[in-house]
Amino acid sequence: MVDEIISDSRYLHELDIIKEIEKDRIFCKHDYNHCKEVSEILTILSKRRGLDNFEELSVLMSYFHDIGRAFRYDDSHDKCSSDFVRLLLEEYEYQEEDVELICYAINNHSGRMSENKIYDYIDNNLVEDSIRDTWAMLLRIADQLSRNCYSCKARELCKWHEGEKISENWKQRI
Ligand SMILES: [Fe+2]
Ligand SMILES: [Fe+2]
Repeated sequence: MVDEIISDSRYLHELDIIKEIEKDRIFCKHDYNHCKEVSEILTILSKRRGLDNFEELSVLMSYFHDIGRAFRYDDSHDKCSSDFVRLLLEEYEYQEEDVELICYAINNHSGRMSENKIYDYIDNNLVEDSIRDTWAMLLRIADQLSRNCYSCKARELCKWHEGEKISENWKQRI
């Protein structure tokens, strides 16, 4: 069912809108490839922590986390993303409990931390007060790690703080 949801024509349509909005963007994009990369990283991180239903949840959170940028291209896109995916998942009659988890994580995915804090979180298997907050944190980390700051041509102009930019050896550090 997940494959069906992430190839739903309404989702692909909104992705096309983001592609058009970002056609001249010099910074990281929020395209299909970004979603795929976030999904791969989130799957690894959540699997290691033994989170229930990690495969499906990782895919759904990752593919939908930025879709709200089609409606609102700013830092409040997380709420729009969550509203969008909620309607779609309800239509597919996806498990209610997981819909809540997905929407919560997406709604709280914005924000970055220092690269060192990311590795500290991973190395020490840190968790939040609740499963949903742990998912939100892992989504945030996967989102940040998916960015190739080390080879980015717009690095100097990027608003990210230097300590937040991802280094070339990140894969060996997670
Ligand atoms: Fe985002
Ligand atoms: Fe993102």
